[in-house]
Amino acid sequence: MSEFKVNENLTITLNEGIFGLWNLETGEQYEIFDRRYLDRIFELNESSGMPYTSKPEDGILIEAGILLIGKKAEQYQKIQKTNGPWGWDLVSKIFHLGSKHNFPSDSASTEENKETGYVTFCESIAESAPNLDIEREGELVKLPTWNSNAIDAYSLKKALWERITSRNFNGGPVPLEIVSNILFTTFGKVHGDSHKKNLAERGILTVGYRRSSPSAGCLQATEAYLVALNISNLEQGIYHYRSHQHALTKLDSGINADLSQILCHQSFAVDAGFLIVMSSRFDKLWWKYPHSRAYRSALMDVGHLSQTFNLVATAHNLNTWLTGYFIDDLLNKLIKIDGFKEHSLFVLAGGYGLQDPLSPGVVKLLKATT
Ligand SMILES: Cc1cc2nc3c(=O)[nH]c(=O)nc-3n(C[C@H](O)[C@H](O)[C@H](O)COP(=O)(O)O)c2cc1C
Repeated sequence: MSEFKVNENLTITLNEGIFGLWNLETGEQYEIFDRRYLDRIFELNESSGMPYTSKPEDGILIEAGILLIGKKAEQYQKIQKTNGPWGWDLVSKIFHLGSKHNFPSDSASTEENKETGYVTFCESIAESAPNLDIEREGELVKLPTWNSNAIDAYSLKKALWERITSRNFNGGPVPLEIVSNILFTTFGKVHGDSHKKNLAERGILTVGYRRSSPSAGCLQATEAYLVALNISNLEQGIYHYRSHQHALTKLDSGINADLSQILCHQSFAVDAGFLIVMSSRFDKLWWKYPHSRAYRSALMDVGHLSQTFNLVATAHNLNTWLTGYFIDDLLNKLIKIDGFKEHSLFVLAGGYGLQDPLSPGVVKLLKATT
């Protein structure tokens, strides 16, 4: 008598009127065109632990890796037992399994030159390249020309060693020249068109531009929004940074929202000189990477930029702070993005104050209890 098991690494979806079934382990997707298959999955699940009796629907379910019989069922249960329960919610498990690289076509390349597949793919999407230079509508605000004096004088080692997350800002104004340097060095187009020209001469069409941090596919999917709290010679407000022009577009005058609430009551942040909200233009990534794995790239892009910001701001003698803890929809609203094609991922802060990991609120609570 064979043992059987329904593979739980699956997800059932409804999209554009079509029910789908995904095997998250293999990445294979099936359309459920006949509800008998769904009924059969229900039935098998309900009769778990009972002897297996086959039904006509089972052939396809076995082929899809959803119904496991005999040795496969035993193997599956053994792995489940060894792993123990997944520690987060199910959506994270779907993301984890679903974003793994398991495309059989990639591992089974038979071409002698292994780059052939990639080059052919790039050729196939070249015509539909999106515009990567993002310009939001609004009043254009010039920034002072950037200069590298501060980072030239500050050693990399010193910046690495002195960087610390500080949560005690004093609200002091940050000079616009410093903000301008930080924006350019972290988010500006630091490599000029000669780089593009060199590659064009070798037959490569470059669609992106380069910043000081690496970026998935050179798409520069991350946008930077400046929340100017206390910057000398810049009106308080919300601005978008034009990376390719080193200029700001004003999106809002003043801060017309409860920043502390948006940041889940990390209220010490409002005493920084400025915040930078980093969003990702998912639609840029969709163009080149049509798989959920690219969501990882969006997050990693932001991580690279965040560290560059930390080091550059430290070299300008600013204290830095960073957070991924905020109310997404409210933050998207603040910087006027849709939260669908473009979404907020991380917030950085720079300002003056004490280099103290403890916020004034926490210090107060500690004092009250001692
Ligand atoms: C991905 C990520 C998310 C973070 N989120 C928060 C946060 O929500 N609030 C906060 O105060 N610090 C946050 N931090 C800062 C960490 O708490 C801090 O880096 C850590 O305590 C180590 O301290 P250090 O940065 O001074 O080395 C975050 C850091 C990273 C890398």
